[in-house]
Formats: sequence, structure tokens, C-alpha cells
Amino acid sequence: MNIIKMIREDLANAREHDPAARGDVENAVVYSGLHAIWSHRVAHCLWMKSLRGPARILAQLSRFFTGIEIHPGATIGRRFFIDHGMGIVIGETTHIGEGVMLYHGVTLGGQVLTQTKRHPTIEDNVTIGAGAKVLGPIVIGEGSAVGANAVVTKDVPANHIAIGIPAKNRPRGKDEKIKLVDPDYYI
Ligand SMILES: CC(C)(COP(=O)(O)OP(=O)(O)OC[C@H]1O[C@@H](n2cnc3c(N)ncnc32)[C@H](O)[C@@H]1OP(=O)(O)O)[C@@H](O)C(=O)NCCC(=O)NCCS
Repeated sequence: MNIIKMIREDLANAREHDPAARGDVENAVVYSGLHAIWSHRVAHCLWMKSLRGPARILAQLSRFFTGIEIHPGATIGRRFFIDHGMGIVIGETTHIGEGVMLYHGVTLGGQVLTQTKRHPTIEDNVTIGAGAKVLGPIVIGEGSAVGANAVVTKDVPANHIAIGIPAKNRPRGKDEKIKLVDPDYYI
């Protein structure tokens, strides 16, 4: 996909997910989540070309400016959005599908110290609430949501909601399929 198209898509996605978002120019300047994903895309390209040192340095610079740490090895699909940002950690072997949204304080982390697939797979259209920790090579199924501050260490089936510590899954009702972006609920 061409870069300009991708930037436009990201800006449209920010407008769609954040009721506080205003003009595209302002959003491009002020949204740390956008800066983090844009710099991750460059860092991931460097990583894939085996330019691992420069990729890590760029990722660290991005972390310094945005408070969002994304390992350059993580694979992230289109229309990824991070609201508020600060305190997010996304590990090396994380795989994120399309249309995923994270709030601040989310960790997509590992539980072992071996060089294996040790981070989560987040399928398409998943939302992960503020402060949630998703740990290990587990799968959060398509269309599911993880509640704020949940700690998830087991798979979440598609179209479920996981809440609590340890997280318990419950099916997501039909009327809950709408994206979690109602301005009456979220700041
Ligand atoms: C998990 C979530 C998606 C559930 O939404 P929902 O299906 O509309 O759930 P409800 O609000 O109807 O609550 C259902 C029950 O779960 C409880 N609950 C909701 N979210 C919870 C959470 N994160 N942790 C623990 N319990 C939670 C409610 O208290 C309620 O309990 P009750 O049945 O005993 O009254 C939502 O609560 C959530 O956490 N969203 C993340 C939003 C976020 O991070 N916003 C940050 C903005 S800055």
C-alpha cells in the first residue's frame, strides 16, 4: 500500500475511533499513537531487512517521545489505533491483525525468557481496554474485547469479552458488536 494512502487511512481511523479527534493536520501533530505506529512501520521494515540495530534505536527513540514501546519485530496490521498511548508495551513476537485498538497502559507481553513465539496474537477488530495485560502466546479471537485492567493468560474465543483477574470470558451480545467508541462512555 502506498505511504500517502496509509497515512490517510490512519488519520481516518483516528477520527473514527476517537470522538475527541478534530482535523487531520492537528491529529497528525498531536496523536502519539499515530506517531508510534508510523515509526513502528519504518522500524519493522528495517528489522525485516536485518538492520536490527537501527530498528531498535528508532523504536527506542519513538518510545522516548511517545511513551509507547513497540518492538520492531512485532507485526501489526492496518487501521491500528492507540488512544492516549502512554505506558504501552508490545513484545517482539506479537502479531496484531487489522482494525485493532488499544488504550493506554496495555501490555502485550511474554511469560517466558526463551526465543520462541512468546507474545500474544491479537486477531482482527479486537479492542483492549486501559491497563489490560495480555500475557503469553495466546490468541484473542476476532471481534473480542478485553476489559480495562484485565489480566489475560488464556485464549479468548472470537466475539467474547474478557474481564477481571484472572480474566473470565463471556460471549459478546449482538448489540455489543458495535465498536467501543461511544463518546458517552469514553474520554
Ligand atoms: C469490558 C467492557 C468492554 C465491558 O463492557 P460491557 O459489555 O458494556 O459491560 P457492562 O458495562 O455492561 O458491565 C457488565 C458487568 O461487567 C463489569 N465490568 C465491566 N467492565 C469491567 C472491567 N474492566 N473489569 C471488571 N469488571 C467489569 C460491570 O461492573 C458489570 O458487572 P455487574 O454485571 O456485576 O454489574 C468495558 O467495561 C471495558 O472495560 N472497556 C474498556 C474501556 C477503556 O479502557 N476505556 C478507557 C478510556 S480512557
